[in-house]
Amino acid sequence: MYRRNYVNEINFVTGNIHKLKEVEGILRPYGIKVKMIKVKKIEIQADELIAIAEYAAINAAKEAGVPVVVEDAGLFIEALRGFPGPYSSYVFKTIGNEGIIKLMKDITDRHARFISVVAFAEPEGYVRTFVGVAEGLISVEPRGSMGFGFDPIFIPYEGDGRTFAEMSLDEKNRISHRGKAFRSLAKWLTGHKVIP
Ligand code: IMP
Repeated sequence: MYRRNYVNEINFVTGNIHKLKEVEGILRPYGIKVKMIKVKKIEIQADELIAIAEYAAINAAKEAGVPVVVEDAGLFIEALRGFPGPYSSYVFKTIGNEGIIKLMKDITDRHARFISVVAFAEPEGYVRTFVGVAEGLISVEPRGSMGFGFDPIFIPYEGDGRTFAEMSLDEKNRISHRGKAFRSLAKWLTGHKVIP
């Protein structure tokens, strides 16, 4: 384990430019730079985000030959028993926000949560995960044009009634699942105690 040697930079495995921008903003106050690396990200069909992220991170670190960070996130809707959860990416690409709004028609319990799992792995096989959760509601119609993915239909409880897509990057980062998970990673990397 040699993590202390590179606390000022992480190799973030992602192809999502929105995620990259968010993570840069989250880690800036900790003095950690984000280098985007593209490695084949193997995604297993497990229902557990933690298992998916750990597996992907271990493989990516081995492939890249350097320590890497992988993030796997998903939207879990209570009334739909956690759907789309680990299948969020596929569901977004297929039915999208309009499809989710249709599925939620006539459903009064609109509670949902975003979960972000950040996995840090080293080529030797060491892996550690950090989880962040944002609780909120599914809106009755999409609102806002910022962010990405399901942002226009998610109203976080920690906000003021706006959807994530109606918030600036900094506002979203302060309360988002990704903000929480990556701040835990940053505290760990920089040697502070992680408060669960
Ligand atoms: P991924 O597999 O971690 O890239 O995330 C799966 C899917 O969840 C993405 O394709 C997005 O549609 C959605 N998603 C993840 N994080 C967010 C977010 O912060 N806001 C909105 N949608 C998100």
